[in-house]
Amino acid sequence: MSQEQWKAVDTYFADLLVPPDPVLDATRKDSAAAGLPPHNVAPNQGKLLQLLAQMRGACTILEIGTLGGYSTIWLARALPPDGRLITLEANPEYAAVASRNIAWAGLSAVVDLRVGKATETLPLLAQEGIAPFDLIFIDADKPSNPDYLAWALKFSGPGTVLVADNVVRNGGVVDPTSTDPSIRGIRRFCELLAAEPRVSATAIQTVGSKGYDGFILAVVKG
Ligand code: SAH
Ligand code: DHB
Ligand code: MG
Repeated sequence: MSQEQWKAVDTYFADLLVPPDPVLDATRKDSAAAGLPPHNVAPNQGKLLQLLAQMRGACTILEIGTLGGYSTIWLARALPPDGRLITLEANPEYAAVASRNIAWAGLSAVVDLRVGKATETLPLLAQEGIAPFDLIFIDADKPSNPDYLAWALKFSGPGTVLVADNVVRNGGVVDPTSTDPSIRGIRRFCELLAAEPRVSATAIQTVGSKGYDGFILAVVKG
């Protein structure tokens, strides 16, 4: 099994099930052209996020980690016209790219992009009383995942869906001696999730165009 094969299978399914979309395709191209790291979810993963939001009937979504707005657009399109997605991005240059992509997508009225470190913007959000969110997507700096889990739980209610990207990292997650701050953050995040009586969670490994990784899926109990 090889990266080449994983990519071919991703392409096969995406060609069949994820039709080309001018806005999403332009967002990916624009993000790459602007020099953003290739960390956006793959098209079939973006569609998974959208399906999860639709299955939940989400009206409010929180995303931590916007990059160029690719996953943001997938998620925001699942919302009803009066829905709202708040997305948090630390890097002002990335946020500028996201902002123009969200505008091209016609989603500026639905998406509220907040620039700043999430550990600084999350407490401000708490003061606004917008929570609970129906779906929360955690996809920013992995060392902060334990903090993001605490915030996600604060911003949750019964039935809130939690998704966290990149929890496998090429299998690195199983190394208890790892000194990689991302691995340590992910392991701590998973341990906290496991010990949290308010959630039911699982983890899924994935291979594909982005290599070998995976995601956490959880729901807050009623
Ligand atoms: N969700 C995006 C990819 C996000 S990549 C997609 O799938 O399209 C991770 C993003 O988190 C990067 O843009 C990075 O700048 C941002 N980030 C890193 N540290 C952060 C922090 N402390 N607060 C908010 N965003 C952060
Ligand atoms: C990285 C971050 C991501 O959100 C991702 O999907 C892939 C890689 C990273 O920081 O390496
Ligand atoms: Mg990610």
